[in-house]
Amino acid sequence: MTGADRVARYAVMGNPIEHSQSPRIHRLFAEQTGRSIVYDAILVAPGHFAEAVNDFIQQAGQGLNVTVPFKQDAWLIADRLSERAQRAGAVNTLTVTADGTLAGDNTDGAGLVRDLTGNLGQTLAGKQLLVLGAGGAARGILAPLLEQRPARLVIANRTVERARELAVQFADLGDLQGCGFADLAGSRFDIVINATAAGLQGQVPELPDGIMDADSCSYDLMYAPEPTAFVRYARQLGVRSAFDGLGMLVEQAAESFLVWHGILPDTAAVITALRRP
Ligand code: ATR
Repeated sequence: MTGADRVARYAVMGNPIEHSQSPRIHRLFAEQTGRSIVYDAILVAPGHFAEAVNDFIQQAGQGLNVTVPFKQDAWLIADRLSERAQRAGAVNTLTVTADGTLAGDNTDGAGLVRDLTGNLGQTLAGKQLLVLGAGGAARGILAPLLEQRPARLVIANRTVERARELAVQFADLGDLQGCGFADLAGSRFDIVINATAAGLQGQVPELPDGIMDADSCSYDLMYAPEPTAFVRYARQLGVRSAFDGLGMLVEQAAESFLVWHGILPDTAAVITALRRP
């Protein structure tokens, strides 16, 4: 087979991968923008990420989305990093460039901000923001959140030291503090973003009362067909604007689509399609 015969391929790599919505999202974007693409979901065994990427490039692969647990591996193997990927310490979008090198980008934070501000009508400027968690997911969203100029951003984590370290690493971008959950007692936030992995076990972080009220906005980076544990928790507290991460998932995919195809697809129709059972 010659190079010219080959179809340009895109894919998402992760482990697990069978429930990934990315193939569906990218196919809907392609349909909408009149492009014909192949987009697969590839299960990669732990420790075999670089090998899987090389195989993918050999098979005329053009672009990859990368999900748990390989975002840091993708960051390490990229030949070049965008500034936002550099900051995030993680890559969710790899592009095979004309000279065969790999460009790494991270569209997660941009996707979150676009969902919050564009789709959900929230304003971040001048607001009190709380990010729960200090792992990879939290790190990936900090710079784009701080770009929106909140009055204050607090990172709270079960392991206090990790929150403090993140706060130091991003201190040049805005007013931010790192603390433990108990230290939040007595503070109220306009926007609370759950970036912990607690939801994977159906849990929520142990938070003091009063950090959210009916007028706060809560956002869970996790998405599931049923309301996530954090969405249920926020609703129990009376929070009227409690969102899961479906919009972010679609928006980060749209940003990747833009990186690869030079066109930003319409996300609203795709979010609606995915919400349907
Ligand atoms: P990810 O890439 O999803 O962020 P990670 O880097 O392993 O994964 O980070 C997981 C985050 O979820 C951490 O902030 C972790 O807190 P610790 O740093 O204290 O481990 C947080 N987390 C996981 N389970 C949690 C739970 N049950 N309650 C509160 N926080 C939890």
